[in-house]
Amino acid sequence: MQIISKADQLREKLGVWRAAGDRIAMVPTMGNLHDGHLSLIRIAKQHADRVVVSIFVNPTQFAQGEDFENYPRTLERDQLKLKKVSAHLLFVPEVETIYPFGLDRATTVSVPAFSQDLCGSFRPGHFDGVASVVTRLFALVQPDVAVFGQKDYQQLLVIRRLAEDLNLAVQVIAGPTLREKDGLAMSSRNQYLTDAERKIAPALHRVLSKTAEALQSGNRDFAVLENQGLKELQASGFTPDYVSIRHAESLAVPGHDDGQLVVLAAAHLGAARLIDNVLVEI
Ligand code: PAJ
Repeated sequence: MQIISKADQLREKLGVWRAAGDRIAMVPTMGNLHDGHLSLIRIAKQHADRVVVSIFVNPTQFAQGEDFENYPRTLERDQLKLKKVSAHLLFVPEVETIYPFGLDRATTVSVPAFSQDLCGSFRPGHFDGVASVVTRLFALVQPDVAVFGQKDYQQLLVIRRLAEDLNLAVQVIAGPTLREKDGLAMSSRNQYLTDAERKIAPALHRVLSKTAEALQSGNRDFAVLENQGLKELQASGFTPDYVSIRHAESLAVPGHDDGQLVVLAAAHLGAARLIDNVLVEI
């Protein structure tokens, strides 16, 4: 596996692969890799000859007071994991490579259709930061395919829309959420949890699954179900930002007869802000 931090070296390597007719897949990450990330790389390999993984803790998607400074940076361990899954190239750019004109003067990409609501209303500017960095990574790598996790469901829709809206020649593929045995979605932020909080954490997925089951069995009292979910999370020790039932494709508040739904939640537990979602097909 080659490790590259500079844009010109990256371009050169990708040029050689492209000249050989290779299809290139990309898996953008912020590092501190876990099995969820690695599952996306395995999916990427099924769709391309070469897999480029990026590790870049993107400052523009963290709001003031969030965990940018403390975000776990574990490059050496990440490299070992990437070698095991035989990723072909690891791109680890410096901030200057991604934002050559500086953070304050950077061109930004905004996807208003999916960025204001849900996590967007609790993390102002977050999805503009995500859309901007992913657009920059796409411009640098120009992948044929890019794989993103369903775990970050709203992010996935933001990226799908930006690729479609900007007519980018990249196919965006979603990978399922990998979970711990007790149902907790794998996340780099799980390590902020104390042992006691870690025992509480699976309640997030339990509450979402229970809501999904209620929808599946015909319950359409969306507001009541959302409120129940909030109460259950609070009773477990979470401070929830939201529990929300939405249309799975538009993220709009669903109508009574909509069959493709997603139940999403974000909730604070100690120092961690956890998110999760469950899709419901009726
Ligand atoms: P990060 O949180 O490192 O996640 C990188 C990718 O891994 C994302 O597509 C995310 O959805 C996926 N992922 C995270 N946990 C997962 C799990 N348990 N199962 C499956 N996939 C999972 O998301 C980001 O980084 C950043 O916002 C990024 C897109 C890299 C832009 O900076």
